[in-house]
Amino acid sequence: MQTITVIGLGTMGHGIAQTFAVAGFDVRLFDENETVRDSVIARVQQNLEVMLQNGLLESINLDEVISRMIVCQAEQEACEQSEFIIEAIAEDLDIKREFFRRCEKVVTESAILASNTSSFPNSMIAAGLAHPARCINTHWFNPAHVIPVVEIIPGEQTSEDVVGKVMQLLHSIGKQPIRLQKEVPGFALNRIQVAMFREMLDLVDQGVISASDLDRAVRGSLAIRWAAAGPMRVGDFGGWDVLGKVYENIAPSLRSDSQVHDILTGMISRGEYGIKSGQGFYEYPQQDLPDIIARKDKRFMTWAKLLSDSITSGE
Ligand SMILES: NC(=O)c1ccc[n+]([C@@H]2O[C@H](COP(=O)([O-])OP(=O)(O)OC[C@H]3O[C@@H](n4cnc5c(N)ncnc54)[C@H](O)[C@@H]3O)[C@@H](O)[C@H]2O)c1
Repeated sequence: MQTITVIGLGTMGHGIAQTFAVAGFDVRLFDENETVRDSVIARVQQNLEVMLQNGLLESINLDEVISRMIVCQAEQEACEQSEFIIEAIAEDLDIKREFFRRCEKVVTESAILASNTSSFPNSMIAAGLAHPARCINTHWFNPAHVIPVVEIIPGEQTSEDVVGKVMQLLHSIGKQPIRLQKEVPGFALNRIQVAMFREMLDLVDQGVISASDLDRAVRGSLAIRWAAAGPMRVGDFGGWDVLGKVYENIAPSLRSDSQVHDILTGMISRGEYGIKSGQGFYEYPQQDLPDIIARKDKRFMTWAKLLSDSITSGE
């Protein structure tokens, strides 16, 4: 493969595109929003500068990387010559289905179609396609150019050949693809994340702990153990006999309903989306945003660099 297409250049898409360009691929980009198209190269440039400053990239020629990224003015122009097309557009099943239906009419016969959906099983996205065997979910994590793991979730009809090629492609750009054996909504990691958010939001809502103390507590305990060893191995070290008792004592009082938590619906209705609206659990003044994002990315990169060898070795 030499040419990759990324459709949707927001939070995820620009980082995905950048990762392929750094690895030497020609990348064709498209977003339906002109302002997003016009800003994508500047955003990638800023990411690359932060990565270079923090030693996450060996010396690269910034101009060469940027020259491999072609921003297209139309979807078809972006897709028709590519061997691998990944969408990072709205998390809306109909929008994703419509995109892939249009896309499969213009791409080459061997092109692979990938979705970066956070929640929809690939079989739902690929339903109605003429060639569902070439459709697959590749679930990246924000920031896409920093976090090593990408979940790979084939649909019921995805061919093994396509799974193999996608695993190989992601390895070749320095990612750590993890293949799931079955598709379930949210895959593995977002299910875990949502289950934890349900409880964490509830603890904050009930006044058990403040949001900032919860961040400090998790970072200084669970996060260190999970980052260093993984939760299942941490359980092995703790002893499942003891953990089984703790589980039994706590499980009945855990939040277990399936509604979006009130605290979250309240924040959403007030427009408190987090960094993108300037207010979440913390405040993000507009004028400080570039600096806040660069400092956050720098911390993520430091940890990703530290952990990458130990994740690969499985220890
Ligand atoms: N944000 C995350 O942390 C995260 C992590 C993993 C996966 N995802 C998934 O990645 C996808 C994108 O999420 P995001 O956070 O980057 O969203 P975003 O809103 O930041 O960006 C989406 C971009 O897609 C564009 N777009 C929407 N519909 C389009 C279409 N039909 N054609 C072309 N462009 C279109 C929008 O203009 C926007 O710029 C979603 O499916 C999301 O669930 C998000």
